[in-house]
Amino acid sequence: MLRLDGVSVRFGGLAALTDVSFDVAEGEILGLVGPNGAGKTTLFNTISGLVRPRGRIRFDGRDITATALHQRARVGIGRTFQIPQPMQRLTVRENLEVAQVFGAGRHDPARIDEILTVMELAHKADADAATSLALQELKRLEIAKALAIRPRVLLLDEVLAGLESRAKHLFMLKLRELHALYGLTIVIVEHDIETISNLCSRAVVLDFGRLIADGTPDEVFRNPDVVKSYTGGAH
Ligand SMILES: Nc1ncnc2c1ncn2[C@@H]1O[C@H](COP(=O)(O)OP(=O)(O)O)[C@@H](O)[C@H]1O
Ligand SMILES: [Mg+2]
Repeated sequence: MLRLDGVSVRFGGLAALTDVSFDVAEGEILGLVGPNGAGKTTLFNTISGLVRPRGRIRFDGRDITATALHQRARVGIGRTFQIPQPMQRLTVRENLEVAQVFGAGRHDPARIDEILTVMELAHKADADAATSLALQELKRLEIAKALAIRPRVLLLDEVLAGLESRAKHLFMLKLRELHALYGLTIVIVEHDIETISNLCSRAVVLDFGRLIADGTPDEVFRNPDVVKSYTGGAH
């Protein structure tokens, strides 16, 4: 469904991504792991169109390497941001409307009502998003914004980070529910090995911008290079 071929990104003298290639299969939940600074967010930025890489990105066989941000949303690439940033002075519902009009090109109130319910935000629909949401609700809004465009693939950047273990568990169940309900493909950045092992059928590992492992969570977390990058390393 999604294919990266030799994707490289440099920021001045820094190689943030170097020759990264892998496929994401339709319907899978893929974990993207690696130490801080490994290039995970940069990879999401290249897939969603914020950063232009060298190499090729294909979606359903179409080359999307050079297409604009909103066009990627329209072909079905949804994403969340590592730091939730609701639009100031807009309600939860208005945040979803803006995300939807930008990403899908039209307003679909029925979809927004549905997403508010699925993401358990209906009771907060008219609340100010920037000031009246708890962390978990901000995270649910982040996902709701991505869902408002009817994505086929969802890129989740550390949406589980900072949640205590029970909240994390409930959030994982919600992700599984979304996966089944919308037939989504999910790529998730997450540090916790147990979470990746529970949620994902496969994981890829980045280290200093290079892909160092690709396999089942069991396989990659037993890989000596991965163990080394998690325990040693100057990160
Ligand atoms: N816009 C940018 N300009 C310069 N350097 C950046 C930029 N974005 C990320 N980097 C650098 O690229 C590397 C990868 O960052 P990032 O993709 O955020 O890693 P991760 O999400 O895995 O923690 C880091 O060294 C980071 O400092
Ligand atoms: Mg990051």
